[in-house]
Amino acid sequence: MNKISKRKLLFDQSITGKVGTTMPSMDIPAQKLPDSSQLREELTMPEVSENEIVRYFSSISQMNFSIDHNFYPLGSCTMKYNPKLNDDIAALPGFNDIHPLQDTSTTQGALELMHHLQILLAEITGMAGTSLAPMAGAEAELAGMLMIRAYHRNREDFQRKKVIIPDSAHGTNPASAVMAGFEVVSIPTDKNGNTDLDALRSVVDDTTAGLMLTQPSTIGLFDTNIVEIVNIINENGGLIYGDGANLNAILGKVKPGEIGFDVIHSNLHKTFTQPHGGGGPGAGAVMVSQRLVEFLPDPIVTKIKDNFDLTKPSKSIGKMGAFHGNFGALVRAYAYIRTLGKEGINSISEDAVINANYLRTKLENTLDLPYNRICSHEVVFSAKTIKEKYGVNALDISKRLIDYNIHPPTMYFPLIVDEALLVEPTETESKETLDDFIYVIKQIVDEAKTDPELLHNAPHNTPNKRLNEALAARNPKLSWRDTQVSS
Ligand SMILES: Cc1ncc(COP(=O)(O)O)c(C=O)c1O
Repeated sequence: MNKISKRKLLFDQSITGKVGTTMPSMDIPAQKLPDSSQLREELTMPEVSENEIVRYFSSISQMNFSIDHNFYPLGSCTMKYNPKLNDDIAALPGFNDIHPLQDTSTTQGALELMHHLQILLAEITGMAGTSLAPMAGAEAELAGMLMIRAYHRNREDFQRKKVIIPDSAHGTNPASAVMAGFEVVSIPTDKNGNTDLDALRSVVDDTTAGLMLTQPSTIGLFDTNIVEIVNIINENGGLIYGDGANLNAILGKVKPGEIGFDVIHSNLHKTFTQPHGGGGPGAGAVMVSQRLVEFLPDPIVTKIKDNFDLTKPSKSIGKMGAFHGNFGALVRAYAYIRTLGKEGINSISEDAVINANYLRTKLENTLDLPYNRICSHEVVFSAKTIKEKYGVNALDISKRLIDYNIHPPTMYFPLIVDEALLVEPTETESKETLDDFIYVIKQIVDEAKTDPELLHNAPHNTPNKRLNEALAARNPKLSWRDTQVSS
């Protein structure tokens, strides 16, 4: 067992009267305490020495798993490459020490960066305009759906209440459509992993507002029916929303705007190196075709003569949040694009696709491969056969990976694949890392055959053993006090 499991909680180390700081003598006039009725009667704080508190926080920081520790092949919402250079650039005082309420005459450099990023993202995706306002992928989806609604309403085409979404879409897509007031019609995926065209034709009509397509889909495939899908929707007066969270699969190769998409969003915190985890912070830039430019969220950055200013498009759907987006994330995305240049951008998608296909071909005889064709940036395996033969499921394999210091892939998603393991190596991992992962997966599958119990009880090498996830969700212990009450 590693030493972290012996770590004592900070409160358990507390000894009354112990202090961890030496305060300088006071050189300002003493102030009266606030009215005692406004003070809490008892605020228990741990009383520990400086060493104890430093060791405590250092030890819990080692319990985190991050891409700075090891390989993190979590499909779809992957933690990707976070160049330290981008952090340095985002921390420059001219970017870091400004406030969104400052007069724009004092923040011209920051606005210029945003303006250039808008242009670069529009060019990369082949679209006419960009808003950097949404602060997550799902928020960009909501913005896109609201723009599609505003577009139809503006044309007094009020009956368009339906949004069609293939069942291989990301889970946030239907939620965003519903939040924007649409009814969602789900259609199946065909046996090759593409959108089922017959099913699409059977539901599309003049009540269709649009279609939301995750491209590449959550089964890691580029939908080769794409041109037909766009034609079917457009012929019926609908618009196409592309979920391009995973733009790293197609960068420099495909411009969604040229295929006929009206909206596409990109998770800058995924494709363009903003570190994220635990829900944020992120940036979901949203790009649109010419017919939606006037509906973009407020604000966008416009160049007026020689100055940059925040402007509101004429029929804007309004604000997506406070101020104008998650600026630090925008700086990192801009730095990454400028570091790579045009050539480098192309190699992102080449490397992402080669890496995923390397894993696919090396593991195709080890795990099930429900859609065995060239994949995009990620590959979905299944543990179905292993479960049937040895009673070991996708969860057991994922938990055992932790013992080998590898973060689990996305499990049980996409929902259309039984015992799914969605693996995304990303473009920035080396062949050596991928070979290590291949070796470990094969090792785990051998363990499943010879010692399934080892996997049922994994992980073995972590401070916390396997959680009862149902109980943890129903009866969460969120503070030290909770652990005291029930223990
Ligand atoms: C394909 C896809 N769409 C949408 C999202 C939602 O993005 P966010 O988590 O930033 O809301 C994700 C998650 O990263 C995703 O992978």
